[in-house]
Amino acid sequence: MTSNASKWANDDDEETAAALALRKREKEEKKRFKEEKARKAAAALQAADHSTSQEPTPESERPSKRQRTSEEQNGTSEEGAHLLHFPTSKFGACRHVDEYELLNNIEEGGYGVVSRARTKASGEIVALKKLKMTLSRDGFPISGLREIQIIRACRHDNVVKLLEVVTKPGSKSRSKLNDTYLVLEFLEHDLKTLLEDLIEPFSPSETKALLLQIVSGVEYLHSNWIIHRDLKTSNILLNNRGELKLADFGISRYTSSPRPKLTTSVVTLWYRAPELLLGAEDYHFEIDIWSIGCIFAELLTTKPPFQGRNEVDQLSQIFDLLGTPTKQAWPSVTSLPNAKDLQLVLSEGKGKPSTLGLSKFPCLTTSGLALLSSLLSMNPAGRPSAGEILPDMYFTEDPRPKAKAMFPTFPSKAGQEKRRRRASPQAPARGNAPKLDEAEVEGIFAGREHEERGAGFSLRLG
Ligand SMILES: Nc1ncnc2c1ncn2[C@@H]1O[C@H](COP(=O)(O)OP(=O)(O)O)[C@@H](O)[C@H]1O
Ligand SMILES: [Mg+2]
Repeated sequence: MTSNASKWANDDDEETAAALALRKREKEEKKRFKEEKARKAAAALQAADHSTSQEPTPESERPSKRQRTSEEQNGTSEEGAHLLHFPTSKFGACRHVDEYELLNNIEEGGYGVVSRARTKASGEIVALKKLKMTLSRDGFPISGLREIQIIRACRHDNVVKLLEVVTKPGSKSRSKLNDTYLVLEFLEHDLKTLLEDLIEPFSPSETKALLLQIVSGVEYLHSNWIIHRDLKTSNILLNNRGELKLADFGISRYTSSPRPKLTTSVVTLWYRAPELLLGAEDYHFEIDIWSIGCIFAELLTTKPPFQGRNEVDQLSQIFDLLGTPTKQAWPSVTSLPNAKDLQLVLSEGKGKPSTLGLSKFPCLTTSGLALLSSLLSMNPAGRPSAGEILPDMYFTEDPRPKAKAMFPTFPSKAGQEKRRRRASPQAPARGNAPKLDEAEVEGIFAGREHEERGAGFSLRLG
């Protein structure tokens, strides 16, 4: 006879009790198995993390692309500490700055002091950048943390390498943060200081080698959704092995698609794109490309092409060289916030024409000039992406970019080496300096002996 009673009904039943006990044992077993699995996975993760921090990571390895956040999709403000995420599986105290012996100050810039230092344990020379951890409205040192976050995520031959972050605890009152330092690989020069020291500009093959490395670094940043937002010669470093690296991520940020609304107070005035000067908040990677255009012109002449005293003067200098923008060439220009305030005269064919030509840049070939004018396209949509610049004909035609191993070395200001003073009235042209200190000559001309000089080309003999 079949019973309608529940099979659980008779708890006293011996068989049921045995079945329940078995089920309980099975459950416990499963639980133990799960715990063991989780423990093993955690151990494996820890081991992997340990090994990546011990072994050098391949230079080509890219940080994972950042997930878009809903706030950014909605185009909200860029403050938000909650947007920061650190690609780390564990937290630990930073080492003390006393692990390093201070050698000399290199520079005090907008966001921190940079010094040359020696690692006490290994003797390795590094750069120590003390961050200005200014608290934002919500009590978070956003700019300092952003810089750490971005530079820590980047691994590329043309981006300066962060070795570690160290602190100096207890140096401030309890309400403030500890002093925080980025420990960076040391490079002997920044391009600004180097250009100030040069008696004549880099040769065409050197200019190409430098520009190519700048564009490679920027292509890496852009393909990882990072806008640098302060590209200029003082933020570009060069070592005595001809290796160039982008630095100073103090105002860099991750971006997204669709474009978020961003603050326009970015990029040093002389390198600032016209859309920023006109108040565009939906700017994107193109602002970095404009800065590259300014840097390219500076490499060619040793002077930044536009040196405005303020925003209006900056725009008027840009218009002097490139002509006033037309509605045809830049249809959306009139809708930019500052276009009306500046009473921007849209030429409609009657405004200033462009004077950008070979007479202004005699060292350039036609393809070089075409590249420069595309980088300095007033309409951001007319600028090439970093990826499009890399295969440009300018880099493939002769003279080819100079090999790193052939790149000249220079005395380092940051390394406190003896340098030649610039533009002294008696300064002889390069190569005609019989009375110069031999060490200086070697430093400045090393690697250039086989090059014949002259506007527009350089020939390597033999
Ligand atoms: N890794 C480095 N090696 C050598 N010099 C550096 C290094 N990083 C920065 N510098 C020097 O310090 C200056 C300021 O550094 P930067 O990172 O641009 O700081 P800031 O945010 O204050 O402008 C640079 O222009 C360069 O001269
Ligand atoms: Mg800087």
